[in-house]
Amino acid sequence: MCGIVGYTGKREASGILVEGLAKLEYRGYDSAGIAVIDNNKINVSKVKGRLANLEAQLSESPIQGVVGIGHTRWATHGAPSVTNSHPHTNENGTIAVVHNGIIENYLELREWLKEKGYNFVSETDTEVVPHLVDYFYNGNLLEAAMKAVEKLEGSYALGIVNVNEPDKIVAVRKDSPLIVGLKDGENFIASDIPAVLNETRQVYLLEDNQFVVLTASSVDIYSADGQKIEKEVYHVTWNADAAEKGGYDHFMLKEIHEQPKVIKDTMTSRIMLGEEIKLDKITLTKEQIDNIDKVYIVACGTAYHAGIVGKYVIEKLARIPVEVDIASEFRYRDPIINEKTLMIVVSQSGETADTLAALRLGKSKNARVIAVTNVVGSTVSREADDILYTWAGPEIAVASTKAYTTQLIAMYIIALFLAKNKETVSDSQIEEIKEAMIGLPSLVEDALNHKDNIKKFAKEFAKETDMFFLGRGLDYAVAMEGSLKLKEISYIHSEAYAAGELKHGPIALIEDGTVVIALATQEDLFDKMVSNIKEVKTRGAHVAALALEGNQTIEKTVDAVLYLPKVMPLLAPVVSVVPLQLLSYYMSIEKGCDVDKPRNLAKSVTVE
Ligand code: G6P
Repeated sequence: MCGIVGYTGKREASGILVEGLAKLEYRGYDSAGIAVIDNNKINVSKVKGRLANLEAQLSESPIQGVVGIGHTRWATHGAPSVTNSHPHTNENGTIAVVHNGIIENYLELREWLKEKGYNFVSETDTEVVPHLVDYFYNGNLLEAAMKAVEKLEGSYALGIVNVNEPDKIVAVRKDSPLIVGLKDGENFIASDIPAVLNETRQVYLLEDNQFVVLTASSVDIYSADGQKIEKEVYHVTWNADAAEKGGYDHFMLKEIHEQPKVIKDTMTSRIMLGEEIKLDKITLTKEQIDNIDKVYIVACGTAYHAGIVGKYVIEKLARIPVEVDIASEFRYRDPIINEKTLMIVVSQSGETADTLAALRLGKSKNARVIAVTNVVGSTVSREADDILYTWAGPEIAVASTKAYTTQLIAMYIIALFLAKNKETVSDSQIEEIKEAMIGLPSLVEDALNHKDNIKKFAKEFAKETDMFFLGRGLDYAVAMEGSLKLKEISYIHSEAYAAGELKHGPIALIEDGTVVIALATQEDLFDKMVSNIKEVKTRGAHVAALALEGNQTIEKTVDAVLYLPKVMPLLAPVVSVVPLQLLSYYMSIEKGCDVDKPRNLAKSVTVE
């Protein structure tokens, strides 16, 4: 996601800031900017696009000064543009702010500030921060920042400068990374260690709710109540490449581990207990929703698998018939589309050629189109009527993991939104589902703890050439995604089958030792699933099951079982996919494959 840097010292800041930002490019970004203090003025330079554009702009119109902050923005609130890019300032340009994270209550704060006479120029959540600091500023930037932060809900790493205290940077973090780089006569802040590694290996690793005040010659750290804190200096011994992956061996593993956070981010400000579901980019009215007689979910690859879960949940909750289509098929089968059709196109990149063409077909036949995408300003988001952004952050590994789980969250949110409007589910049921959703990040965290068992399994079975994934209902949908992951990165052939359908053909392939992964998280289908497992067991299969805690009876039927924490069955896919992602990852490692860049595959497929 976004990257932050800050410098205070004796050298010209702008080059140092751009160099630091370049080291954060791996985080993904679509615009960049810096703000440097010079002679009682903050000079800001911002561009849309790559850092090279910023460098070109700075060489045309250099900005001088020895204290500054910089930012690479990965758009969440508002399209990538110069206006929306950071740093953001207060109205008279005396305070500048860079921010990484999401301010959940920014709409409320915007209204509050507008009542106090503040004007906004961007669509971002961040812009409330310089105005808040301005509102509370009374001669002390740290105090003003502390008061401003008290008003914020959400996640943030902030770097703040003020012309009235021109030698200083004030920074703070909560649920977004921030480190301080220490050097003789100059100091730095950054989202991540690689940004400062060319300058120093001595850093402070800030913790949540810690503030830091930096000048060229001092670094003071404070708790939220203003108490000074002594911190140990951390000496960095590893290289930049390892740090970019956050200490993980591969981007895929890093992204798998980011899921608790990005699931939370995607629900943030949309799903709150006791409040209406807030979808600021979906403007469908109740009347329009009542008019819908058919939903098509159209996507490719992993996004298509998220759509299959979408079908289950929308039909279950909103009682509207849903068809899920692979985009490249949908376009050529003359689907029945009219003004009563709601199309949901799901695309991480928002640029997949077939998905885009399907969207255009839908629009040409007057369907209402919701885009579920991870990339703000992507073509899909620009052409759809409504948008629900997944806030997974840039996904670098080709095999999609965190994009999938956030797409699932998007499916639940849309299903609840439709159900609420159609009154097909009671308010108390909606609250119950919301509460269970809010609990998902910690359940996913638990599911990540099974690594050792999965590694062992991968070691034992990495030489297999064929595997089966079985499930019923939502477990079948997840089985498809598990099977795709395995194929994509370990090149092991695998099939996902609806467990009840197996005996109509593929069971002929089961022989002694065939590995079967059986998903059994759906309580109402548990007994039926156990019967299907017995069918393959009696033909010699080696069965490893995924079940929820409390269903120990399955042990009598299978060779191995991995228990997942109890979760509402409707939401189980978000948790049960995690061990399958890990399984494909460790299989790929065992086989020595290129995990992040599997052969023949592309992250974004922009040809038909
Ligand atoms: C490619 C990627 C997949 C992805 C699919 C759809 O095949 O390798 O990971 O699921 O495209 O991409 P989209 O960006 O539309 O979600």
